[in-house]
Amino acid sequence: MAAGALPVFFQHPLGESCVAVPDRSTTVLSSVLEAVGNTPCIELQRVPKLLGLKCRVVAKCEFLNPGGSVKDRIGRLMLLDAEREGLLKPGDELIEPTSGNTGIGLSMAAAAKGYKMTITMPTKMSAEKERALNALGAKVIRTPMVDFDHPDSLISVAWRMQKEHPETRHVLDQYKNSGNPNAHYYGTGEEIFRQTGGKVDMVVMGTGTGGTMTGVAKRLKEKIPGVQVVGVDPVGSILADPAKPPPPGFSYHVEGIGYDFIPHVCERGLVDVWVKSEDAESFKYARMIQRHEGLLVGGSSGSAFAGVVAAAKDLGPEHTVVVVFPDSIRNYMAKFADDNWMVEKGFSDLITEERRALGGVVKPTYEALEKENGAMKAKIAALEAELAARK
Ligand SMILES: Cc1ncc(COP(=O)(O)O)c(C=O)c1O
Repeated sequence: MAAGALPVFFQHPLGESCVAVPDRSTTVLSSVLEAVGNTPCIELQRVPKLLGLKCRVVAKCEFLNPGGSVKDRIGRLMLLDAEREGLLKPGDELIEPTSGNTGIGLSMAAAAKGYKMTITMPTKMSAEKERALNALGAKVIRTPMVDFDHPDSLISVAWRMQKEHPETRHVLDQYKNSGNPNAHYYGTGEEIFRQTGGKVDMVVMGTGTGGTMTGVAKRLKEKIPGVQVVGVDPVGSILADPAKPPPPGFSYHVEGIGYDFIPHVCERGLVDVWVKSEDAESFKYARMIQRHEGLLVGGSSGSAFAGVVAAAKDLGPEHTVVVVFPDSIRNYMAKFADDNWMVEKGFSDLITEERRALGGVVKPTYEALEKENGAMKAKIAALEAELAARK
């Protein structure tokens, strides 16, 4: 262990580098990988009060990881585990199906270590994520929004490419890789325990692969008897209730959470309460957290906060709720961070008067454009009729 390294609280079965990073306040780090994790827990001072919540709400600020999300943790650990297992040779290529953030975390690790990287990512995910991936040297293959087992899905395409060159291409596979929940069991969950001194009554997390939920829930349930685990799942996903699939073609805008299958790493039994989240409340709360707490979070942080509002409404001031904020506004600068996108997607009523006064809304709504279009068509028809009458 390097001089000045943090104590190792839990030994990873394959080594200790996932948790034993040097103390950055007293040393120079050897690579970006040592800057992953140890994110701050910040008490929310204003938004819970504005919404009438009485309990103490603490945000685990995963968006402050160097690659911008909670997924930097699994990108680092899955790659280090693969190296320890002797799976990777210099110049090998990693291929990963992802909604983007795992891709960024893995590509960051691959860039620091010198591996090639290809990402398969559905068309829904933001252009900002693709730009970040490109900056890290990753090739991005966009896949259609189809069922996970469709031959064109992000998962099928990644595995098909891997099978073409099995000696040099590897899918570390966040849906199955134990490094995914382990990164949160030894990292995120353990950090929350230490940062709060174990005073946690409820922990609220969005679920995508379920790796964050599984790792954090396992660690905290071991250490804090009676802690409540709240899983947040968007309307349109089956994670909360696999027996209730959404109507065909149903989609939602929030990125990174929800699936149409249950990932292997997702231990649903660890969740005590499921909350279903909707786009509008997710964007409303994410914007409130940005504006009133100064935390530049992404949309799924708003979904997680919707989970707090629903599950913690009856808790008193003696209770502490920890909510995980997975990624940042950076991924959504041209999406929900942009008032014009909000107008286009039908969320104009979430734009506050204060925001409107800043003059950011420049695009007319689709409805307004359609009205204008209709009026123009009517005018042309009238002119044509006039012309025809003159002949
Ligand atoms: C923005 C965002 N929020 C939440 C999650 C959920 O994380 P997990 O896959 O650990 O359930 C993800 C995962 O990609 C994400 O990208």
